[in-house]
Amino acid sequence: MNISGSTVLITGASGGIGGAIARELAWRGASLILVNRDGDRLERLATELRGSGGKVMALTGDIAQPGMPARLIEQALEQAGTIDILINCAGVQNFGFFAQERAADTAMLFQVNTIAPIALVNAVLPHMLARGTGKIVNVGSIFGSIGFPCFASYSASKFALRGFSEALRRELAGTGVGITYVAPRFTKTAFNRNVVARMANALKMNQDEPESVAASVIATIERDDRERYLGWPEKLFVRINSILPRLVDPSLIKQAALMRPFATESTR
Ligand SMILES: NC(=O)c1ccc[n+]([C@@H]2O[C@H](COP(=O)([O-])OP(=O)(O)OC[C@H]3O[C@@H](n4cnc5c(N)ncnc54)[C@H](OP(=O)(O)O)[C@@H]3O)[C@@H](O)[C@H]2O)c1
Repeated sequence: MNISGSTVLITGASGGIGGAIARELAWRGASLILVNRDGDRLERLATELRGSGGKVMALTGDIAQPGMPARLIEQALEQAGTIDILINCAGVQNFGFFAQERAADTAMLFQVNTIAPIALVNAVLPHMLARGTGKIVNVGSIFGSIGFPCFASYSASKFALRGFSEALRRELAGTGVGITYVAPRFTKTAFNRNVVARMANALKMNQDEPESVAASVIATIERDDRERYLGWPEKLFVRINSILPRLVDPSLIKQAALMRPFATESTR
């Protein structure tokens, strides 16, 4: 899909990955509708992007609030006239022992990572189908294909988003509306709070810069890719885990032991 001249709504726009995607889209001539909760951060980004000549609208809203996804789409369509591309990038993470995770935190994580993106797609789809064109990009995670210890609810929320993307892609075949699932690996943003970042270093996890993740997201849009898993050997592990999960079990169980002190610190 062509990015130049298109109107793109992106959630999580002020975040590490979302901000990098927004900058790249603006540079390529897209009009932007930026969404997240913190209005000041959003306005700072909008001002920066307008300064470089882009047409930018900032919509503040908590996508976890019931009804908010539909309201945001309605507002965006009213003000911008169209949405060519929806990028579901907002996300939150729970890290620690699941036995100690509060039910309210699990519910909130699913609301932001799974329910809200699905509701945003539900709200924008009639508009895209009526025009016979559109693109939806769901930002998942490598943990959405490989269930990772101490990230149980986070992994589950991204597994669900991946399943939704796959099913809807099949349902929408031939309509002109495409859906893409992009799965980053560990990326250096504030998403990974201190204890998670230290654990990633201790475990020697491969780490990407948000700009390189943004470049991959842009490439998936331009090439109309169905899905993309970022990083090597992570994309190989995704394949192996889907066919022979027992082969992957021993190395992740070993990792779980190394993660234990960090998970203990996180859930204290
Ligand atoms: N960083 C990684 O290691 C990594 C790896 C794999 C996948 N991912 C995925 O990549 C995506 C972006 O991650 P990131 O690293 O850019 O995270 P980030 O820097 O923490 O940014 C998250 C963004 O989501 C917004 N957000 C959170 N809750 C929201 C809510 N209830 N309503 C509206 N906006 C909300 C935040 O803004 P406000 O707080 O202002 O609302 C922020 O703009 C996420 O879906 C994440 O799961 C990240």
